[in-house]
Amino acid sequence: MSQVLHPMLNTAVKAARAAGAIITRAAQDLDRVAVTSKSHNDFVTEVDHAAEEAIIKILLAAYPGHGILAEESGRTHGAKDSDYLWIIDPLDGTTNFIHGLPVYATSIALALRGQVQQAVVYDPTRNDLFFASKGRGAFLNDKRLRVSKRIRLLEALIGTGFPFRKGDNFKRYVTMFEEVMQSCAGLRRPGAAALDLCYVAAGWYDGFFETGLSPWDIAAGSLMVTEAGGLIGNFTGEADFLYQREIVAGNPKIYAQLVSILAPHTGVV
Ligand code: IPD
Ligand code: CA
Ligand code: CA
Repeated sequence: MSQVLHPMLNTAVKAARAAGAIITRAAQDLDRVAVTSKSHNDFVTEVDHAAEEAIIKILLAAYPGHGILAEESGRTHGAKDSDYLWIIDPLDGTTNFIHGLPVYATSIALALRGQVQQAVVYDPTRNDLFFASKGRGAFLNDKRLRVSKRIRLLEALIGTGFPFRKGDNFKRYVTMFEEVMQSCAGLRRPGAAALDLCYVAAGWYDGFFETGLSPWDIAAGSLMVTEAGGLIGNFTGEADFLYQREIVAGNPKIYAQLVSILAPHTGVV
């Protein structure tokens, strides 16, 4: 990376690479990775925990006064009253990781009073580092990212994620899926939401939608999208999505067309 990063982003990159090293080492011998189930279909491994610990250690060593919201340990680490909150998914795409499918990443975002300022998503399988600073653009390694220019949903490639937890509203999702599928050129479900949002930022997808996601799945990716010139919001098109469990993103034209399909389905989970 040739450019000078914001010091907080630099720390996040260091933490994400440390997590990536732990994940990559473990991926070489998956039979030895202990897996437990958080709930039906929702898995966690010792690798998720080890990667999360490494990230938190690096972040708090640099910024001991900051808050932490991490998928596996919640808010147990860090300050409780800081304006700064690191939002961490140590391993996004755990199900893929367990199966050896190389689509997973570490996601780290820094929010200041609820607004994401710095973001890193690191895909250790490709050594791809996505990063963004508010107002300074989104990048993949050394390359500036821009969302796609496609304007017709009929020609668009759309990413999504399927519901999979007990109690999810599968029927409503299938209705949305059917409507979007008939209106676009193709739908994809790779299985790591943080990367899905980076793919929108990179212009590889023209849009993305999913329900049931948590802040750690989307915080970093959301800044990638907006810094690449895209839009992100809830199904009715409002920018307030971090804790809403429904999300749509895309280049501005495709975003608007997805919102018009998804708005009637708001509040599905
Ligand atoms: C999951 C992935 C997946 C999405 C799930 C998430 P995890 O995260 O982002 O793409 O569909 O809803 O829970 O559990 O692998 O960190
Ligand atoms: Ca996740
Ligand atoms: Ca995770």
